[in-house]
Amino acid sequence: MRELLAPLTVPVHPIPGNHDDRDALREAFADHPGIAATDGFLQYAVDCDGVRVLMCDTLVPGSPAGSFGEERRAWLAGALDGTPTIIAMHHPPIPTGIAEFDTIGLPAADVAALGELLDGRDDVLRVAAGHIHRVITATVGGVTVTVAPSAWRQAVLDLGPEGRAVVADAEPPGYALHLLTDGGALVTHAAII
Ligand SMILES: [Fe+2]
Repeated sequence: MRELLAPLTVPVHPIPGNHDDRDALREAFADHPGIAATDGFLQYAVDCDGVRVLMCDTLVPGSPAGSFGEERRAWLAGALDGTPTIIAMHHPPIPTGIAEFDTIGLPAADVAALGELLDGRDDVLRVAAGHIHRVITATVGGVTVTVAPSAWRQAVLDLGPEGRAVVADAEPPGYALHLLTDGGALVTHAAII
C-alpha cells in the first residue's frame, strides 16, 4: 500500500481497516509522526489547514467486525478541542440496513455511546468512514456520517432481510473528496473513477 500511494502529492494519514494489522501498518508508515507516536490503538490527530482530523481505530484483530469501546472513545473525547474537526474511522458508526454488513459493523452500544459523546457539539463537521463499499449518508449524535465508495469494487445494494455483504462489478470504483468551503461548510463529493 505504501508503494502504491507513493506517487500521491497529498499527505497520507492511514488508519487500520478490518483486514489490517497494526504492527504491519506501524512498520510501513514508521516515518509518519502521528503513527510513530501511537502505542496500542492506532489513533492520532492531524491538523490540515485549520481542520483537525482525528484518525480513529475500529480494528478488532481477526474479526471483520469493529469496536469503538470506552478506551478509544475516551481518547476521542480528550482530542476534541473546539477546532473544526473531521472524525475518520473505518467502520461507520451507523446501522446500514444491509443485514450482513450490520453484523460486521460496530456494536450498537458503541454507536449509541459515540452518539452521546457527539450530541450537541458544534466543532465536529463530519464522521468519515468506509467499510461498506457503498456511498451512504446518515447521522450519529446529530453529526453527518459519510461512507465513501470503495476504490476497488462496490457492494451490492441488498436491503432484504438477509442482505449480503458482497461486492460486485456493477458499479465503478470511486473515492470521497471532502472540500472545506470558504464559508466553513464541509462539502463531500463522491468522485467516481
Ligand atoms: Fe472493511
